[in-house]
Amino acid sequence: MQLLRRIMAEEQPGITAALEAALAEMPPQTAGAAAHLLRAGGKRLRPLLTLLWGRVCGLSHDDLYRLGAAVEMLHAATLLHDDVLDGADMRRGRPAAHLVFGLTESVLAGDAMLAKALLMVSDLGDARLTACISRAVMHTAEGESAELAALRRLDVCQEDYLAMITGKTAWMLRAACELGTLRAGADDTVVRASARFGLDLGVAFQLVDDCLDFSPSEETGKPRGGDLREGKATPPVLLYFAALSPDQRQAFAAGFETGNIAGPELERVCREIYERGYAREARTLAEERLDAAAAGLAGLPPCPELTALREMCEYIRNRSA
Ligand code: FPP
Ligand code: MG
Repeated sequence: MQLLRRIMAEEQPGITAALEAALAEMPPQTAGAAAHLLRAGGKRLRPLLTLLWGRVCGLSHDDLYRLGAAVEMLHAATLLHDDVLDGADMRRGRPAAHLVFGLTESVLAGDAMLAKALLMVSDLGDARLTACISRAVMHTAEGESAELAALRRLDVCQEDYLAMITGKTAWMLRAACELGTLRAGADDTVVRASARFGLDLGVAFQLVDDCLDFSPSEETGKPRGGDLREGKATPPVLLYFAALSPDQRQAFAAGFETGNIAGPELERVCREIYERGYAREARTLAEERLDAAAAGLAGLPPCPELTALREMCEYIRNRSA
């Protein structure tokens, strides 16, 4: 993981500068909430993917920072909206923006950031780039909407779940990769490879995230069972539910469907899901997607950025927080 860490550290100043430049161009009324979230940190995986894929295709132009910043801006916009929808209190160790700036202000800041991100991409004057990011926005909204419709339901199948996370998370990572190859003017086969990579990586990323919801909070630094409390039937929950006796199933369903799993009961269920190995088992789904993502890199010309992309797969595979 050495190379990825080095590149991550080296690229942070360029990514931060591009984000700050974009923030300075936002309407002042919306810049507060935008800055509150963007300056709270974050791994900046999306801009890094844009940079890495652009460089794999031989492009080293500064446009890549602006493109990467646009995807990060869009990602932040979705988080502002998501925290309102989820009623979240905290994000990146800070109070959620809607608690600081107000609900309406936070939603409008998200709207402005979404528009700003699209403008940043369309400024480059290539309709394929604009179409790429616009499609990602549409699928993100589609996935989030499907997730909301499935809340507190235990009849979600794995296919439905995968469709939801492909939309709400993976399409944006796909766009991050594809924008890099498109800007570099890569062949269609390479553009398609970058899109496939981003989609697989994104599905794996969300799967791992959903499994980490059951890890002890001392390990992740986040409250345990947040997704379960919100009523999200993620793969570890579905595996757990399927293995319960009929009576236990009825009792669990009654709490889950009415949103009444909280406090010590939430902790107990999380501990059982974790200790019985359902979170671990569900991670194998992510591992398959990461294997596919890494396999899709074969055949591309070897370079440090390609190695860093392989390391990104390992980084997600081994994530524990
Ligand atoms: C985080 O999921 C949320 C997303 C990945 C996508 C949210 C998308 C929207 C709100 C709709 C689209 C909005 C725009 C501006 C296009 P999570 O709740 O599982 O993760 P968390 O624990 O980080 O909140
Ligand atoms: Mg959320």
